[in-house]
Amino acid sequence: MSLIKWIDFQSLGDERGSLVALEIGMEKAVPFVIKRVYYIYHTAKSVSRGYHAHRDLRQVAICVAGRCRMVLDNGTSREEAWMDSPTKGLLIESMVWREMHDFSDDCVLLVLASEHYDESDYIRSYEDFTGQARNS
Ligand code: TYD
Repeated sequence: MSLIKWIDFQSLGDERGSLVALEIGMEKAVPFVIKRVYYIYHTAKSVSRGYHAHRDLRQVAICVAGRCRMVLDNGTSREEAWMDSPTKGLLIESMVWREMHDFSDDCVLLVLASEHYDESDYIRSYEDFTGQARNS
């Protein structure tokens, strides 16, 4: 099964422009209760981010402006996708290594998270991650 799992959001557009609404309890749009929202912006072109996995956290990433390239890795296979649509969310399950590259100057990456921030949930060593992913 592909690591790249897109969720399509309904765009409520009219002649004035477009709007996407995500409400708590919309299980079909986001498959968990959202406990935290953050966004990444003003990332320098030469910078890559991420390089970690989460033990329990699930996330949906939405590129609401610009573009960036997301790499996902489950310890045995690696897939990538361009994030460039505000109507598509990328579901990132727990125990998936992620890297973000090639941010455009105007990129704003919005992330919906299933848990509050917890540094102990991070696995920041790729070696530790692959060891744990293979044993799970
Ligand atoms: P990090 O998750 O390492 O960013 P990225 O995956 O984009 O490279 O987070 C960067 C810093 O921000 C780190 O010091 C932790 C802090 N942080 C919070 O305090 N709260 C949060 O919700 C997030 C996502 C990060």
